[in-house]
Amino acid sequence: MTLEQKAAQLVQIPYAQIGREKSEEWARRGVGSFLHVFGEDAKHLQKIAIESGAKIPLLFGIDAVHGHCLNRKATIFPTQLSMACAFDPELIKRVAQAAAKEISADGLHQTFSPVLCLGRDIRWGRVDETFGEDPYLAGILGAAMVEGYQGEDNAADTSVIACAKHYIGYGEATGARDSYDTSITYRKIKDTFLPPFEKAVKAGCASVMTAYGSIDGTPCTADKKLLKEILKEQLGFDGFVVTDWQNVSHLIGEQCVAENAKEASRLALESGNDMMMNAPEFYVAIIDLVRSGEADEKLLDEAVERILTVKMRFGLFDNPFRQADEKYLGCEEHLELNKEIARESTVLLKNDGILPLTGKNKILVVGPSADDIRCNYGDWTYFSHPLPDYDTQPVRPYVTLLEGVQELAKKHDCSVQYVKGCEINGEIAGGIKQAVKAAKKADVIVFACGDNILLAAEGCDRADVRLPKPQRELFTALCNTGKSIVTALICTKPLCIPEIDEHSAAVLTNFNSGMFGGRALAEAIFGEINPSGKLPISFPYHVGQQPCYYNQLPGWHCRSYVDMPETSLYSFGHGLSYTSFAYSDILFDEKTLTLKVSVKNTGKREGAETVQVYFRDLASSVMTPVKRLIAFRKVQLKAGDSQELTFTFTRDDFSFVNANEERVTEPGEFELMVGGSSADSDLIKKKFTIGMAPKSWTDQ
Ligand code: BGC
Repeated sequence: MTLEQKAAQLVQIPYAQIGREKSEEWARRGVGSFLHVFGEDAKHLQKIAIESGAKIPLLFGIDAVHGHCLNRKATIFPTQLSMACAFDPELIKRVAQAAAKEISADGLHQTFSPVLCLGRDIRWGRVDETFGEDPYLAGILGAAMVEGYQGEDNAADTSVIACAKHYIGYGEATGARDSYDTSITYRKIKDTFLPPFEKAVKAGCASVMTAYGSIDGTPCTADKKLLKEILKEQLGFDGFVVTDWQNVSHLIGEQCVAENAKEASRLALESGNDMMMNAPEFYVAIIDLVRSGEADEKLLDEAVERILTVKMRFGLFDNPFRQADEKYLGCEEHLELNKEIARESTVLLKNDGILPLTGKNKILVVGPSADDIRCNYGDWTYFSHPLPDYDTQPVRPYVTLLEGVQELAKKHDCSVQYVKGCEINGEIAGGIKQAVKAAKKADVIVFACGDNILLAAEGCDRADVRLPKPQRELFTALCNTGKSIVTALICTKPLCIPEIDEHSAAVLTNFNSGMFGGRALAEAIFGEINPSGKLPISFPYHVGQQPCYYNQLPGWHCRSYVDMPETSLYSFGHGLSYTSFAYSDILFDEKTLTLKVSVKNTGKREGAETVQVYFRDLASSVMTPVKRLIAFRKVQLKAGDSQELTFTFTRDDFSFVNANEERVTEPGEFELMVGGSSADSDLIKKKFTIGMAPKSWTDQ
């Protein structure tokens, strides 16, 4: 390859932004990749690429982060945060397999997914894209997604390249303002933020995207230690690193660590980036730098090799036009899977016994989220980011909450009335009055509230994470009627809703749950399904508690705020059922590190419970969290049945990263905690000791 051809391989060009003609020029030049182009346009560019210069096939990338949602024919699955509520890696793997078939049905090769940032501060606009606040859960679900996307045979027509993003610490930005700096240390990165990426790399993830942000003043795109030393050398990542959107030029204009395109390009390459997203300036700059001896051509060769190796691994050289059958787009099987994941992800947050609804004949459905499917879809669909057109009409099939309630009401002999009441963040003339009038005639109110992508998405961080004012006013007016309220929260992420919790008889959510999330909520309301979802993220009472993730390091002064508890309103792992479960007989074998525990369905109905295992290291050389999830398993139990579960651990499972940035398991006393949520009141506990590692073990 010539120097120019090598430089071009490292560039990823955004088709929509530069248009057809310029894209053709780039294809002729031998550019490595395009993003956001599909169908016939992609084929056209591919034809040009394989007939020009070095004849290397193009790689096409897309943001298919919860299904191939930028294509309106595709299946829109729940967002990662919503799917995480199912606590079910196998199910998530099946969703990723289905998404991969739909993505490759459009001739695309790479999806910029999964997001492995942690969602620990709900002010951040991209919490919906994460698997929540826990590194273990995010890692297990992320690895499952990678396996699902990439398939057993990477070169199969139905496999796509996964891209673990955003590396790293992106969700920790100061004040939760997207792309801002964070001061987390490398010890903490290795202890808490790296493990999800580590699991993705072990699962064979073929690409990783750098974050927009910076760590203690060093932009992630310019951080050699992060990219070369930790990701490539220590984790053994053998795929390619792609920058986020224009991250090379951000080094100049925004982050101000480079004066011009040449400096920024050299910095990006030397730091370990292999592909530069939307960085045409990199092409010119890097050629000049190599020619003048200011950059080492070897670095260019290494990056090209990584990109070409992935292209080969995924069969692009064998078949540059590889494409799965178009029949997969929105097919029946995927729609059924979509219903399944929406049901499994439905979380019952509160229930004073009103649910499942029986004997309530007149139902009033009220609220701005009841009949607008865009509220269920979330970000990164064909009417949202990155081609924003909020007024685009959603395409069927889908079922809103209102439609779900209407359909099931017939079966349950109920009548349904609907009043919108207000907009998500706006008033409707006479809306509240109309809602109150209708409420007076109803037996029960189903209040559908939440946010939408105008309030939460990339670039939409919030300082106030309550329900918007018009919805709070509507809720207060409904409460004043004295009627029972069942609140269905259709939201991108947790909101601060203490008043909703206090005054609703029941509260349930499945966040942005895709095409059939509204139907799943309705099924839960009528008891057609028994909800079993658990929260992958805590709900704070108040924004001032942020961050309030469950796995914090301990402190003692002012454990609580003077004016607020330190605990969350709904804790990580929380989720009720129409039956109840009891835990007993916790046993731990210190020799084999095996835990046994029994769980019994003590209620009157069959149900599923996600058994969660946490641990705490009771004395360690640096402080460790008050509890950490290390295992979970979902069990289905008939009323009255019980099951003994066995979990086997390794010493590594009880490790942490010490002050020397080494992962260690220090001998000593530990505590295991098992139960149905991370709240202390839901956990039974058992202390145990880990001895010195046997000599043969340390010698290994
Ligand atoms: C986002 C990435 C995304 C990329 C390409 C960026 O703004 O941060 O998550 O993959 O755009 O659309």
